[in-house]
Amino acid sequence: MSETYGEKAARLDAIDELGKHREKFALDAGTVYLDGNSLGALPAHVPARMADVITREWGELRIRSWGESGWWTAPERIGDRIAPIVGAAPGQIVVGDSTSVNVFKAVVAAARLSGEDRDEILVDATTFPTDGYIAESAARMTGHRIVPVEPAGMADAAGPRTAAALVNHVDYRSGRRHDLPGITAALHAAGALAVWDLCHSAGALPVGLDAHGVDLAVGCTYKYLNGGPGSPAYLYVAERHQAAFDSPLPGWNSHTDPFAMTPGYEAAAGAVRGRVGTPDILSMLALEAALDVWDGVAIEDVRTKSLALTDFFLECVRAYVPEGRVRSVTPDTHAERGSQVALSCENAPAVMAELIRRGVVGDLRRPDVLRFGFTPLYVGFADAERAARVLSEVLAEGPAGLAS
Ligand SMILES: Cc1ncc(COP(=O)(O)O)c(C=O)c1O
Repeated sequence: MSETYGEKAARLDAIDELGKHREKFALDAGTVYLDGNSLGALPAHVPARMADVITREWGELRIRSWGESGWWTAPERIGDRIAPIVGAAPGQIVVGDSTSVNVFKAVVAAARLSGEDRDEILVDATTFPTDGYIAESAARMTGHRIVPVEPAGMADAAGPRTAAALVNHVDYRSGRRHDLPGITAALHAAGALAVWDLCHSAGALPVGLDAHGVDLAVGCTYKYLNGGPGSPAYLYVAERHQAAFDSPLPGWNSHTDPFAMTPGYEAAAGAVRGRVGTPDILSMLALEAALDVWDGVAIEDVRTKSLALTDFFLECVRAYVPEGRVRSVTPDTHAERGSQVALSCENAPAVMAELIRRGVVGDLRRPDVLRFGFTPLYVGFADAERAARVLSEVLAEGPAGLAS
């Protein structure tokens, strides 16, 4: 008799090297957590670290902690912890602010870095909306115009008038991975800068920022990097652009001598010039602690498992769910897939509500997309099999309130 999917899952989990990292997370056995592409799970050691930050560093050391506990230098120190995960050498990433704010800094800076004769900014037409809203405002402020282009069309759309393009590495809705090396090279060939949004790829797959010559990049830390709700985002400024990087938000934290309190602004050297104001220390230090789970983890291994998990989930869905009830909007081709599977189906809101009620936590993108994020450090093959099985049961039985 051939192996069942449950048996296959158990066999794959037994040989999964990354499975040992699961115990680093606070997870309950009753839940399959497939929403780490929205909010990563809590690393189990973070509460104790935060208790120390609050009671000792804040409660006892108080103001001294800016220096003695390393609070002041946290944005660049934590940036250097994120750097290897996204393929960047140290000194090019600062942590702080939200992704939206960093999109603003990056797009305005890119517009200022490009020549005066370039008046177009290409923006991923399928982008997570905040990037589009912010880029539009940044373009207006810098005298550029926005040209919405699907990522696949970026290479052809870039020309002598293109200042920069803002592209998502992985699409938030479909889970489609875009060709970062190819698009970056095409933009450079046209004399334009490449600005990447890594929210859905950092911590899920290799990015290779330095290797592929990316100019500027932004990303959040609360998804695959498990930094916690609202944890600060980051900004990457390639070393070769740092001297000319002209921040539209030149706050005192990016001044070369912040405590001189001089009226004139003088930008600090390095990625630090991406800083703005006083960092959100509690969130930032929770993120720093959360990054410990990456010690000894190679992002290439994460990618290998991510693809195996999403393949296996899709295989189980095809086997369990009757033909025609769901449609995958995530590409089958590995090169075009991130670390989530998006399935469209009828009555998707009711289906997702029922899945969550039965312990399979994904999320919904209206009107009809069920998103299942696979975070290889704490999701296993048995989780993928259970999620597909419960989905098939929900679709067969019809969730409460679901018109069949
Ligand atoms: C691709 C992408 N860009 C930007 C954002 C917005 O990030 P923030 O709310 O930190 O500004 C998100 C949030 O999920 C996202 O997925």
